[in-house]
Amino acid sequence: MSEVFKDVIQGDLKARIDRWIANYPAGRKQSAVMPALRIVQEECNGRLTTELMNEVADYLEMTPIAVYEVATFYSMYEHKDVGRHKFCLCTNISCMLRGSDDILAHLENKLGIKPGQVTADGKFSIKKVECLGACGGAPMMMLGKDYHENLTPEYLDKLITELE
Ligand code: FES
Repeated sequence: MSEVFKDVIQGDLKARIDRWIANYPAGRKQSAVMPALRIVQEECNGRLTTELMNEVADYLEMTPIAVYEVATFYSMYEHKDVGRHKFCLCTNISCMLRGSDDILAHLENKLGIKPGQVTADGKFSIKKVECLGACGGAPMMMLGKDYHENLTPEYLDKLITELE
């Protein structure tokens, strides 16, 4: 296990991962890979490096490729820098039909960044994501663990002001 990961996977973080492992039968610790990646990402500047994914694999007794497959399939895992507040805007069909293109354009203008970029102060980033299962509230986005639905430019302006 690398020195970097030893520093990360200890104390409260290790306890949080171990609680997830305890939810599964003995010998099935790999079932905790998704929450383990989320926890490590939260504690490591909001993104997963190859080294961290390797160490998650080591800790859960998985092959590294099995961890990469999970970490690169789901959109909540990050492999590049992100802002402290990450606007995950759904641009799939229901949200698109309800104006997500306009919402995205407003966010880009307001923050001065494109999807995949981070504001100079490190506060905000934008990410386009696929359907988040809240089509009834389209257009919508996820911010942290919260869903924000029926988005309007005015709502976003107010939210950004509150976050600044
Ligand atoms: S299409 Fe946007 S939440 Fe389903």
